[in-house]
Amino acid sequence: MIEFGDKIRRIPAYPTAAGYDLGPEVALLASNETAFAPAEPVQAAAARALAGANRYPDPSYSPLRKALSAHYDIPVERIALGNGSCDVLLSAGEALLEEGAELVYAWPAFSVYPHLAAASGARAIEVSLDGEHRHDLDAIAKEITVATRLVLICNPNNPTSTAVGLDEIESFLEQVPAHVAVILDEAYIEFSLVVGDPLASVPLLERFPNLVLLRTFSKVYGLAGLRVGYALCGSAEFATAVDQVRQPFYLTAPAVAAATEALAHQDEVERRVSATVGSRETLVAALRERGLWVAESDANFVWLRLRGSEPEVVEGLRERGVLVRAGAALGHAGYLRVTVGTDAENAKFVDSLDALVA
Ligand SMILES: Cc1ncc(COP(=O)(O)O)c(C=O)c1O
Repeated sequence: MIEFGDKIRRIPAYPTAAGYDLGPEVALLASNETAFAPAEPVQAAAARALAGANRYPDPSYSPLRKALSAHYDIPVERIALGNGSCDVLLSAGEALLEEGAELVYAWPAFSVYPHLAAASGARAIEVSLDGEHRHDLDAIAKEITVATRLVLICNPNNPTSTAVGLDEIESFLEQVPAHVAVILDEAYIEFSLVVGDPLASVPLLERFPNLVLLRTFSKVYGLAGLRVGYALCGSAEFATAVDQVRQPFYLTAPAVAAATEALAHQDEVERRVSATVGSRETLVAALRERGLWVAESDANFVWLRLRGSEPEVVEGLRERGVLVRAGAALGHAGYLRVTVGTDAENAKFVDSLDALVA
């Protein structure tokens, strides 16, 4: 029998969504992707890059780095790119954590966070959300000790969809010692009305060199299948450190080309956000009309408390061609996380739920 390292026993399996083989009429509401396909110029850019795929990509990925630098007005050296933002997150864990170190995050939050502690041997401190399933930043601040290396704040929070305002985040950051890295995971920031503007948190980087804003092309930009994420860093040393622990070629040339093109189409981002926020309001209202508790969603998904047995509802929805995420797999049994899809998909979900939960 092969003998693996201890971490292989510690690292939790990622709760992958099943059912991608069920056919095109299935409503894929389990992974918080956008229902909109990449815009035509974005697809064309990826296709052009594919024609040169006999060469390795430029390892500095400079077109994308420069485009992000211009868009956010921060120097290229303070941008870390990744094979999805998960890649940056896991590399940050590798670069910052080790046995004896501590990592603090709210729970439930993004299901990859526990992996960082398990992979490194660091201790994970999980802090409960408040009664409205929002981050309790005061409680998180109280858990920071001399051993803390990293704090993760997911805003808006996956899976609970809630967000905290930047004023609260700023007061929190003022309490964090300068040697502790804070990753503000903003995978869903474009959908947030509480924060209001995806550029709003960027000036915080000038005040807090230990802050990192984690972003992705997988959600509103519609490139989940190409795997591109990035981090805007308060200091260049964070970007250098995550690059030190990774292979040199972590992005593919078509992915870099598509992401660079997608960033240029901010009108498309705005169109998607307003369509998604409109559909989200309709979906939340329909669920609340049925007497269900639904968290104040600030993302492209909703989080609701179920009546009835969670495994039976999830399985019943799957049989009816609707895939959602069970709360049990995400750290909170008795709840469902449902991506905002097209209006037809959302209606199919609500109708199916009606049939299952009287
Ligand atoms: C909060 C959060 N952060 C990061 C990610 C990772 O996204 P990706 O690796 O596709 O950029 C996700 C994906 O669902 C997420 O929900």
